[in-house]
Amino acid sequence: MRRRPATSRLGVSAALTMAARGVGLLTRLSLGAQRSQVQRALRRLLSCPGTVAADLRREEQFSGSAETGSEDRIPKKRFSEVQEERREQAQRTVLIHCPNKISEKKFLQYLSQHGPINSHFFYESFGLYAVVEFCQKESVASLQSVTRTPSRDTEAAIPFRSRYFSLKLRNPSSQPLEQSRVQCSNQSSPSSKRLFELLCCAESVDDQLTALLKTFQLTEENTKLRYLTCSLIEDIAAAYFPGCAVRPFGSSVNSFGKLGCDLDMFLDLDEIGSFSAQKASGNFLMEFQVKNVPSERIVTQKILSVIGECLDHFGPGCVGVQKILNARCPLVRFSHQASGFQCDLTTNNRIALKSSELLYLYGALDSRVRALVFSIRCWARVHSLTSSIPGAWITNFSLTMMVIFFLQRRSPPILPTLDSLKSLADAEDKCIIEGHNCTFVRDLNKIKPSGNTESLELLLKEFFEYFGNFAFNKNSINIRQGREQNKPESSPLHIQNPFETSLNISKNVSQSQLQKFVELARESAWILHQEVKERQSSNQPWGLATLLLPSVANNKSFVKKRKKPASERIKNLLESIKSSSTEHPTDTNGKRAVNTQA
Ligand code: GTP
Ligand code: MG
Repeated sequence: MRRRPATSRLGVSAALTMAARGVGLLTRLSLGAQRSQVQRALRRLLSCPGTVAADLRREEQFSGSAETGSEDRIPKKRFSEVQEERREQAQRTVLIHCPNKISEKKFLQYLSQHGPINSHFFYESFGLYAVVEFCQKESVASLQSVTRTPSRDTEAAIPFRSRYFSLKLRNPSSQPLEQSRVQCSNQSSPSSKRLFELLCCAESVDDQLTALLKTFQLTEENTKLRYLTCSLIEDIAAAYFPGCAVRPFGSSVNSFGKLGCDLDMFLDLDEIGSFSAQKASGNFLMEFQVKNVPSERIVTQKILSVIGECLDHFGPGCVGVQKILNARCPLVRFSHQASGFQCDLTTNNRIALKSSELLYLYGALDSRVRALVFSIRCWARVHSLTSSIPGAWITNFSLTMMVIFFLQRRSPPILPTLDSLKSLADAEDKCIIEGHNCTFVRDLNKIKPSGNTESLELLLKEFFEYFGNFAFNKNSINIRQGREQNKPESSPLHIQNPFETSLNISKNVSQSQLQKFVELARESAWILHQEVKERQSSNQPWGLATLLLPSVANNKSFVKKRKKPASERIKNLLESIKSSSTEHPTDTNGKRAVNTQA
């Protein structure tokens, strides 16, 4: 790397001084803010170790099971409580790049000099990393105070004092051999071979869906790493905007995230405003002198532009920074090398956070919801209906809305409509964002569980049937009212944005992509229907495994059965199912016949 000219280095150090001042400002908060900080610290000390971990273990036990029925629900935390606890936990946590071989015991002893450790884990991602959560935030400052900035002969270091460290062995050759490989937590999804083994070993289609959920859902460690990554980015943004928060949203927090999904985060500057609101009293009102620009969009672009530069130049481990400022929702995209996350940073995105809260609520209401969404998301990915590249495809967000809508349409409904969640809201739940009413009840315990006991197998099959026959040409999907509505515009797929109700979240989907979705849904319904009649021997892919083969049409057992052209065969089958479901409540095998339309 070329040495930077002295002037540019000066500029950097000035910016970093500013950053340090900014961080200093954080500690000089108003009395009210200090009091709440003290209360939080007290709560933490009283509960340490393991409040969040214990809660999560309890919640994992709950959410890991995707059995039918939701009568025995354990009270779950509100989304905002989880976010706040996780954020505070992340602020006490550090990320350390370690030598490949290390004695775990000595490592922990060494770090304990700075204070008690609440939890830790190791993971591999182009090297060995440790995530260490101290009991107290002060331990992080203590560790930083004994950490040096590296100096190399050929390169110059930017002296950024973050919470991302490198641990070096003082004299590697003289280290005793007791240093062995530590146990690493897995941060990636299983291979397709492993997945198929798992699915084929399952006892039933219901078990397959549950196994898929357990295998792909974000682990406790992966979730911690996501909040920690946001917290590290927040430290950088706080150099310019002291008191800001960087909050994860999207599938990292809405309970529908798959291992390996991107990390959506938003820079929340609203907290800065709330400090001044607390101080407003008496005859005077103090305002900051600020620069004005013509629109909110330009504010967003300017802020993201600077933060993007900052991440690029000073953000340890932030690589491939792209500023995508002309998008509908401007963002900075980058890779966080140490965690391996692809990150999208936005600002002014409160509605998206509210959508995440809504999905979290739906995911927690009934254990079948997440199992079904995970399977449909995996199915769509395998068949290239979704993609990590933006384009004319359906997004995971849209697919999740489709599943929610479908579950609202069951009889009795498995999920309540957004309007009914709104009617359960109290004054504290009221939430208006940019003029949009985003109010809904946030306390899960106020929502009556569904009496519907349908199996996951039935729901999966009927999801495919329902959308294989949905009148996409004239109807819109609307989770607010939980019923089909006339499409207000001509996009092939119309899914109403739950909060900005004049918008269509799937406006990007082309007719051909929709057609592909419909055809695959029909084929999948057909396969599942056939399998009920002739359950496969266990060494052949069956049930969900058949649907997740790269092409359902190439599946051997499927090809063997194929006698007529697919379209004709499926049409006949659907016709026969339709007539049997209207004429006879049970089919010839004594099983309940499937409905084709709600
Ligand atoms: P992954 O595919 O696992 O990343 O799912 P995701 O839910 O995180 O989706 P994505 O990263 O594409 O978007 C992040 C969040 O932004 C979503 O969860 C939504 O809250 C929001 N979002 C995404 N697309 C739209 C859209 O078209 N309209 C609106 N209003 N919000 C969207
Ligand atoms: Mg995402």
